[in-house]
Amino acid sequence: MCGIVGIVGRPGENVVGKIISGLEKLEYRGYDSAGLAVVHDGYIDVLRAVGKLQNLKTKQEGSKIYGNIGIGHTRWATHGKPTENNAHPIRSGSVAVVHNGIVENYKGLRFDLQKDGYVFETDTDTEVIAHLLQRKIAQGCSPRDALRSVQEIIEGSYALAAIFMTFPDTMVAARYRSPLVIGFGEDICVGSDIGAIASIACSEVAYLEDGECAEIIGNEVSFFDASFQPISPKRQKISPGFVSTGKGEYAHHMLKEIMEQPSAIRRTILSNKPDGRMFDGVSRILIVACGTSYYASMVAKYWFEKFLKIPTDVEIASEYRYRSPFIEENVLAIAVTQSGETIDTLEAMEYIRKNSNSRVAAIANVRNSAISRIADFVFYTEAGPEVGVASTKAFTAQLTILASMAFSRHEFLINKLRNLPSICEEILDLQYLVKDLAEKICFADSAIYLGRGSLYPIALEGALKLKEISYIHAEGFAAGEMKHGPIALIDDDMPVICLCPSGELFDKTASNIQVALARGKNVVIFTDPYGRKHLPQEVTKIILPEIIEEFAPILYVIPLQLLAYYVALLRGTDVDKPRNLAKSVTVE
Ligand code: M6R
Repeated sequence: MCGIVGIVGRPGENVVGKIISGLEKLEYRGYDSAGLAVVHDGYIDVLRAVGKLQNLKTKQEGSKIYGNIGIGHTRWATHGKPTENNAHPIRSGSVAVVHNGIVENYKGLRFDLQKDGYVFETDTDTEVIAHLLQRKIAQGCSPRDALRSVQEIIEGSYALAAIFMTFPDTMVAARYRSPLVIGFGEDICVGSDIGAIASIACSEVAYLEDGECAEIIGNEVSFFDASFQPISPKRQKISPGFVSTGKGEYAHHMLKEIMEQPSAIRRTILSNKPDGRMFDGVSRILIVACGTSYYASMVAKYWFEKFLKIPTDVEIASEYRYRSPFIEENVLAIAVTQSGETIDTLEAMEYIRKNSNSRVAAIANVRNSAISRIADFVFYTEAGPEVGVASTKAFTAQLTILASMAFSRHEFLINKLRNLPSICEEILDLQYLVKDLAEKICFADSAIYLGRGSLYPIALEGALKLKEISYIHAEGFAAGEMKHGPIALIDDDMPVICLCPSGELFDKTASNIQVALARGKNVVIFTDPYGRKHLPQEVTKIILPEIIEEFAPILYVIPLQLLAYYVALLRGTDVDKPRNLAKSVTVE
């Protein structure tokens, strides 16, 4: 997590505004604090503020800070509380540094540096990087050699950029297991993602790979590989799609992104036509993912096993490699991720690569993200930039690709998939019913979501959405599992949100609902015209259109996203930037 940006501008230029523009695009990576530092007239000026970027902007507007070379940071706190003192850039003498990642051996390094007389002023792991750089500069090293020695010493993950009072036209940057790109335009830029550098008028980009670093002096960039040999990474044009379009007419990115689902699904169907032959000879499918992407993968398990008849394992990426799993022959691995940067998913993929000869596919939303550069083949969800921290349109787009894979040998279902966008539109038209429902839920301390079969992962996803943005504790359960324990939670106040479309499991779910109704009054059912007729009359129901049973997961999640959104609105939380979260999770 954390977003970093760096700009080496032209002589006389003031890059402060551009640093802030870059940080605006990176705020999704963390918003515990923000800061920037610039070099001017032989000095480094630092400005930092706790909380959202707006606080830094307010400070900057009242300041005279300027410089033609500078770095910026938006923080998701790992080591040290989210205070102004722990905000980046972190200084040591003539050096200022911004860092995304974790220095795992910082305690030992801190101890050694303290013995050498370095005084630590923050609780961050990053401060060791600043002092290590400063020590080397004080010994007469160049910024590039100072960086090299730091890269040799620190363990863990880093994307970092540093500026120097005594080398006022130089910036150095390096990465290891945290993303970093170098942008070329009217200035030379460094950023955690392309969106940030595209917003600073860069037209081309070069990716740094693990262990690589760059030294920027004026408008000259030198690149070095992990052995510090000079390299020339490929420069690629930045496509206009990387620039996010803002909130438009909507109050929040999340609402806009929920509303964009019909077009996101339509684009995803049009540009992805998985060929059933990709499963020839595959005896097992192994999916790794986290969070919402994990729930999409859980749905895929139901589909893959039913329609491809291939056993499918779905693994929580952060757990997977630590149990040293054995991977048999003929496995197709799939990593599912919106950002393509989630470190847990990347590491799980690396484990699969090292421990098997499996082909590895990725489903990603962000083009050229780390995952897409290491996968054998990539299917892109065409959801467009997703800014709201709570994932919505990327989830339904992931489900759409996974469904296209699962149905690739079933022409009837593939053809029917094309109707999804218009059914989505019908469901979105019901938003006002969901808004009313939110009023019944918003005072609850806790909520339960129930679903069976492929709707069970949707119950989990519905609960996650509510937790993330309204801070109401919520749990999703397989409806049939309730009686084995969780039913003890039900009383008259507990909202029990049930997903009960018509189909094979309708009667079973209906019985589970009866059991819940016998114990609580706050039961709500999402169902269809068949359910309206056959489920108890006295219960609150939201009636969705009749659809092919297999498509229910893609469609039933939409009202749950809306429900979480409207509940959060009533509770006055920060919908797009909920507390403690970040959009891209690049730490373990
Ligand atoms: O970018 P990814 O899909 O790999 O991210 C995985 C999770 O961090 C993500 O889905 C997270 O759970 C979202 N906040 C859910 O809304």
